[in-house]
Amino acid sequence: MAPDNNPLIVALDVPDFESAKQMVERISDEANFYKIGLEMMMSGDYFKLIEWLKNKDKKIFADLKLYDISQTVGRAVANLAQYDIEFLTIHTASSSIMKQAAQNKGNMKILGVTVLTNLDQNDLSQMGFDQNLSLEDLVLKKAQLAIESGLDGVVASALEAKKMRDNLGQDFAIVTPGIRLEKIASDDQKRVADVKTALGNGSSHLVVGRPITRSEDPRIAAQRFNKIIEEVI
Ligand code: C5P
Repeated sequence: MAPDNNPLIVALDVPDFESAKQMVERISDEANFYKIGLEMMMSGDYFKLIEWLKNKDKKIFADLKLYDISQTVGRAVANLAQYDIEFLTIHTASSSIMKQAAQNKGNMKILGVTVLTNLDQNDLSQMGFDQNLSLEDLVLKKAQLAIESGLDGVVASALEAKKMRDNLGQDFAIVTPGIRLEKIASDDQKRVADVKTALGNGSSHLVVGRPITRSEDPRIAAQRFNKIIEEVI
């Protein structure tokens, strides 16, 4: 059974309410924190699922990556704050957009998405970003502005986590996706990290999807993650 403050967050990347319910029931008490994103939102059952998860005493990470003008983001955040949501993502943007989100967050914690993990330096150049600014420095710059603007943390890879802890301190959440049970030699170190590396680098929460949800026995898979997490923390 996972402890209450377990850093493991399971990404519930399934298409509809029924499959989400089944997955959560299969994982049982090995996870108490679930990330639900845009796919589930577009199923029409997002808030029904939130209610169901809350009845099961699960914590919710609403990975909606909001991005719009300050007023619109602020109002959307205010509406979401009526629900019992632990984490909400917004894209890091101007300070005024992020401040507006922070002012309306209620009891939620707002995480900034810096640079999406599937973008590389070429994509950024193509998108018009300064070619002299490395992707790592851009991520750090965006994270710094996010924290200064009142966000509670960021979504970041394990490698970025280290840089952020070294440069920006301890007092904010770093939520790291793409976590695997153990180091896999063939994996791109930058994008995928094992539990020990991520926690060692300063990640406060670990998001795991397919290694749990696509395994034959999701409960046993989650238990394996919890065992390694316990050894580290
Ligand atoms: O790969 P996995 O299924 O564990 O991914 C879990 C979640 O983390 C997904 O919702 C995915 O969008 C996100 N992810 C990410 N960056 C990665 C890998 C996964 O943002 N490099």
